[in-house]
Amino acid sequence: MESRLYTPDEFRAAPADLAPRAEPREVLLCEPSHYRIEQALNPHMASGGALHRVDRREAWAQWEALGAAYARLGYPVHVLAGAPGLPDMVFAANQALPFEDERGRRAAVLARMQAPSRRGEVPHYAKWLAARGYACLEIPSDGAGEDALTLEGAGDCLFLPGRRALLAGIGPRTTAAALARLAPLLGMPVIGLRLVHERFYHLDTCLMPLSPRSALFVREALAPDAAALVERLFEDPIAVPLAEADSPGFACNAHSPDGRHVLIQRGSKATLAALAARGFEPIELETGEFVKAGGSVFCLKMMAY
Ligand code: ARG
Repeated sequence: MESRLYTPDEFRAAPADLAPRAEPREVLLCEPSHYRIEQALNPHMASGGALHRVDRREAWAQWEALGAAYARLGYPVHVLAGAPGLPDMVFAANQALPFEDERGRRAAVLARMQAPSRRGEVPHYAKWLAARGYACLEIPSDGAGEDALTLEGAGDCLFLPGRRALLAGIGPRTTAAALARLAPLLGMPVIGLRLVHERFYHLDTCLMPLSPRSALFVREALAPDAAALVERLFEDPIAVPLAEADSPGFACNAHSPDGRHVLIQRGSKATLAALAARGFEPIELETGEFVKAGGSVFCLKMMAY
C-alpha cells in the first residue's frame, strides 16, 4: 500500500492486508488551569450568540476524574501544565499526532492549527514529545498557502485499530492538501473522509474506532463514500443517533484504549446499550464543562508511546 492520500472509493484494501501497528499506552493530559471560553471556534461554544461560561472548579473535578479513570485501567498518565493565554490548550488531542515509524521509532507530526488562537499550544506539546525522544516532524509547506495546510492532530486523524492506516477528516479544520503531505511522513496510507455537518467539525466528533471489529459513527456527518468506507472496514459499526452524538452527549468523542473499555460522556442511552450489547464495558464520565467548548473524553488526551 502506498503512503499517500486515498479517497474512500480508491481504498480497496481490507484491514487484514495492512501491516500491524501497536497501540500507544501512555496518556498525556493538560491541566485546565487556563481553560476558558473566549471565542466560539466551533458551533458548540456559544448559544444564541452568547459564549458558554465554564465552571472552573467543576472543570478541574471532571478533568481529574478522567485522569483517574485511565490510571485505574493501568495507563500511565502524564500531565502538562496549562499556559496563560491559551484557553483551549486542555484539548490535548489536537497539537500533534504521535506514531511509531516502520522501524518502531517514535515520531510525531506537529499540528498546524486552523485557529490562530491555538497555534501557541503546539510548542508546549512538542517540547514534551522531544523530551521523550520523539522526532517532531512538520508538514512541508512547499507550494501551498499557509491556510491550505491546516492539520489538527488526533482531532482529525484516527488510526485504524491495530493497523498501519489512518482515517482522516477533511473539513473545517484539516485540509486534503495537509493530509497528502502527512501520508509520506507517517509511512502509511491516509484515507480522507469528508465531514459534511457543521456541528461535527473534527472527525473525532463523528467517528470513533473502538476495536478492529467496531466503531461508533454518525452517518449524517460523513459524506456518503466515507460512511460506506466505515461500513466496509468495520464488521460491526454502531450508527450513533445524531442527537446523542451532538452536544451535550458527544457520544462519539469517546475512547477505548484497550478495545474493551469505553470511556464516554455520561447519558447517551442508545449508544451505551449498543456498546453493552457488543460486550464493551462503558465507563461513563461527566465532561460537561469541556463539552461547552466542543470536546469530551477523546479531545482531552494525547496518546503516546
Ligand atoms: N474548543 C476547541 C476547538 O474548537 C475544542 C477542541 C476539541 N478537540 C477535538 N479533538 N475535537 O478547537
